[in-house]
Amino acid sequence: MDTLSILVMNGPNLSRLGKREPEVYGRRSLDDINRGLAEAFPGVAFDFFQSEEEGELLEKLFHCEDHGGYSGVILNAGALTHYSIALRDAISAVSVPVIEVHLSNIYAREEFRRKSVISEVCSGVVSGFGANSYHLGVRGLMGMLESP
Ligand code: DQA
Repeated sequence: MDTLSILVMNGPNLSRLGKREPEVYGRRSLDDINRGLAEAFPGVAFDFFQSEEEGELLEKLFHCEDHGGYSGVILNAGALTHYSIALRDAISAVSVPVIEVHLSNIYAREEFRRKSVISEVCSGVVSGFGANSYHLGVRGLMGMLESP
């Protein structure tokens, strides 16, 4: 099988992981999480992207669709998950499979977090396993690509 290439995208506030509400999101930084993925899946070529800006995430998705050659995207959209119709439309507009991941279990939290406007257009959703959500997302994506 060809080397899989996966883009791991993180949205607003995820640059603060490790320092931000560690009781909710854990003590690992985003770099720790990204490094952990690269170590756990040595056969996968990862690219990592984080932005505080909605528009930059959209542009990255379009760039990935047009030039990236990625097999799939793992996306933690942070708070955009709950209200960004622009992000939802962008995910709908690309053919690359997008897996939605969350460190926390968004369905066990405040009411406003229990609604994801992007789940319907994502190929899969993982929520509530801490940093392991990213690993499970990658595993799920790999399985999906192997046997669609
Ligand atoms: C999050 C959950 C969101 O509700 C929140 O806004 C985040 C992180 C998570 O990974 O658990 O920024 O996506």
